[in-house]
Amino acid sequence: MKPVKVGLLGLGTVGGGTVSVLQRNAEEIQRRAGRGIEIAIATARDVSKARSFDTSGIELSTDPQAVVNHPEVDVVVELIGGTDAALELVMQAIANGKHVVTANKALIAKHGNEIFTAAQDKGVMVAFEAAVAGGIPIIKAVREGLSANNIEWLAGIINGTGNFILTEMRDNGSDFADVLAEAQRLGYAEADPTFDVEGIDAAHKLTILASIAFGIPLQFDKCYTEGIGHITREDVEYAEELGYRIKHLGVSRRTDKGVELRVHPTMIPERRLIANVDGVMNAVLVKGDAVGPTLYYGAGAGAEPTASAVVADVIDVVRVLTADPENRVPHLAFQPDALSDLPVLEMGDVETAYYLRLEANDKPGVLADVTSILGGADISIEAMLQKEPAEGQETVSVIILTHRIREAQMNDAIAKIEALDSVQGQVTRIRLEALDA
Ligand code: NAP
Ligand code: HSE
Repeated sequence: MKPVKVGLLGLGTVGGGTVSVLQRNAEEIQRRAGRGIEIAIATARDVSKARSFDTSGIELSTDPQAVVNHPEVDVVVELIGGTDAALELVMQAIANGKHVVTANKALIAKHGNEIFTAAQDKGVMVAFEAAVAGGIPIIKAVREGLSANNIEWLAGIINGTGNFILTEMRDNGSDFADVLAEAQRLGYAEADPTFDVEGIDAAHKLTILASIAFGIPLQFDKCYTEGIGHITREDVEYAEELGYRIKHLGVSRRTDKGVELRVHPTMIPERRLIANVDGVMNAVLVKGDAVGPTLYYGAGAGAEPTASAVVADVIDVVRVLTADPENRVPHLAFQPDALSDLPVLEMGDVETAYYLRLEANDKPGVLADVTSILGGADISIEAMLQKEPAEGQETVSVIILTHRIREAQMNDAIAKIEALDSVQGQVTRIRLEALDA
């Protein structure tokens, strides 16, 4: 049978990994797919740039339209990123009847609903395994492997750059800016690294995971998003003293009132496996009603780990090229006309436990004021630590762990604590999840 022809948009970190993996493993891939897979054409902004991989035999162009309109291309692989040119190119490829594979989480989280509708109408596939958690086949696991279950919740470390930064800060006391520069050098960070640091990239990925887990349309604009920029080395140390690790987590849980969709730094008991996932590695915990808790672990970013997911998607597309479009695995796991209107909850309605750190004047009565505000808001205290004042300072750090409470109640209590004359500056709040089965 004739080989399947691929058109590649982008020859950067992931594009390069995809070229290398397809070349190196061509024989094994053909045995799995049942047909050869060849890259016919690839685009980049600058095709004269020296690349660390072999592009011989591939037609190179600076015109992405040449890829999506190429008469021989069966599958377009979009690896340029962003949501402007990428959306236009993907829609054009679909309109031309080409299948699409993409690693672009921003594109799927923000425009997936319209992309999938267009693909459905045209009877083509849009595959996006590499968009979530790099090389971990988490989309396939949730969409297919766990399809017998009612998914109750999922929680994951889904940004490699953020986890790399938090790990380096904890283990080596490294400076935030230095570690971020290293993550960029290694090809882990987004073109705009604020997406990694401010939690936007993780919010894109969580939006996709939640839709697949709960069968709801993609609703990126409803995801509560907080990054790691305000986490201090002291918070990391205090968390350790209390038996916890701080990880940047995406959490989505089905409740009676709706679906939680939130991304923020989270304290996790250090004995949990996921608390020990370090560096660029990602991990996703998924709790199904039948299977119980399951954990998926692997590299969350980087050229070949991500290419592993991209190429697996291309192989999947090749395997079902001749299958009836009505009988393929649905893009969002559930049949398109069976998506649920379960609402995404406002953050104020979410219930979690909390770590609070406040800087208080070192004098009698301050702690009593703080605990009376918490007591008045029905917030019970699980543990409390008061640190010695640093040399030359008049304030002390007070750390409080609370039991679970609605976020709206905690917001009121924090506002009252911050209004106390004896409390200086803002209260640092880190949400705490036990993540037990
Ligand atoms: P990258 O290294 O910046 O590569 C982007 C490639 O696209 C480059 O070859 C660039 O050309 C080309 N390009 C950019 N804008 C273009 C345009 N308007 N028209 C034509 N070509 C254009 O990015 P990457 O890290 O490979 O990421 C690609 C996608 O994969 C993104 O959606 C990203 O979020 C996703 N992703 C990345 C990783 C990772 O670990 N890096 C992991 C999972 C998913 P030049 O080479 O000439 O500059
Ligand atoms: N910038 C992303 C990360 C790439 O660091 O996780 C993988 O999606």
